[in-house]
Amino acid sequence: MDNLTHYINGLPKAELHLHIEGTFEPELMFKIAARNHIRLKFGSVEELRMAYKFNNLQDFLDIYYAGASVLRTKEDFYDLTWAYLERAHMDNVLHTEIFFDPQTHMANGIPFKTVIEGITAALQDGTEKLGMTSCLIMCFLRHLDEESALSLLEMAKPYRNQITAIGLDSSERGNPPEKFERAFAKAHEYGYLTVAHAGEEGSAYNIRSAVEILKVARVDHGNSCLTDDSVVDLLKERKIPLTLCPLSNLKLKVVHRLEDHPILKMMEKKLLVTINSDDPAYFGGYVNDNYIAVSKALGLNVEQIGRIAKNSFLSSFLPETTRKKYLDVLNQYNMAF
Ligand code: ADE
Ligand code: ZN
Repeated sequence: MDNLTHYINGLPKAELHLHIEGTFEPELMFKIAARNHIRLKFGSVEELRMAYKFNNLQDFLDIYYAGASVLRTKEDFYDLTWAYLERAHMDNVLHTEIFFDPQTHMANGIPFKTVIEGITAALQDGTEKLGMTSCLIMCFLRHLDEESALSLLEMAKPYRNQITAIGLDSSERGNPPEKFERAFAKAHEYGYLTVAHAGEEGSAYNIRSAVEILKVARVDHGNSCLTDDSVVDLLKERKIPLTLCPLSNLKLKVVHRLEDHPILKMMEKKLLVTINSDDPAYFGGYVNDNYIAVSKALGLNVEQIGRIAKNSFLSSFLPETTRKKYLDVLNQYNMAF
């Protein structure tokens, strides 16, 4: 193993952009489908994996929502989440902030309670058995209307303490942040932090709207900010972190080669960038694979990679005492390396 890979594998880190439905590995999907007496469209794990070829975000979302429709019971959501936690633990993820899409499951007739109770039971075991901290980010699907987002907020009320933040995901084209202005205002009123996917397939204008109209604490992706200096300045002034996902960007053709990934230019502009896996079961790699692939493509050095891991803790929603503890762990790792 080369020195850089060795450094990344042992590097303490936080993951801040991870859709739990995007961690659904084909093997687990077949197992859960059989358990629920559901016939998949694909005959085998290999055939399913072969279908993971996407030309854009929508191509991916169509397959991703089909995969998620296999999840039916609390045990299914538990198993999905637990499998991710075990995998992330192997990558030295100390803390993870997990997106979930309740509207996807509710459209399949699954109660909100089933989804959140399955996920949170696994998160609790993650803390007790693996020593990992975590929090939940409930996403609004932006291809649905704002009324649906508002009613989801009401439905989540009994679980207010289990949800740290509200997010916005799904098809960015045609569904700009401002479509959800009232729902995000309500989320703030209820005391949630907020984040939003913006500038993945959409323009820098969407990043500005997410910051100024939705008042997000972080932007998910944000790739297109470099096309508008005033948006870069806005992100810098307000210290808004970006949760970048290099292998996702490659698989969804947001970038055509990892050598073209904007992370290095963003670092040169002193933006607060982090590396994450987005939907690792679909994009060919978990968080360390993302760190390794983009570092090799852009020739990042150990100092730059260490700064990205530091950013992951600085950009997290951790309470200050835990943040400090993890930053100390990171410091010690760097001094010993
Ligand atoms: N849902 C899951 N992954 C997503 C992504 N990369 N962009 C938007 N919505 C998503
Ligand atoms: Zn995402």
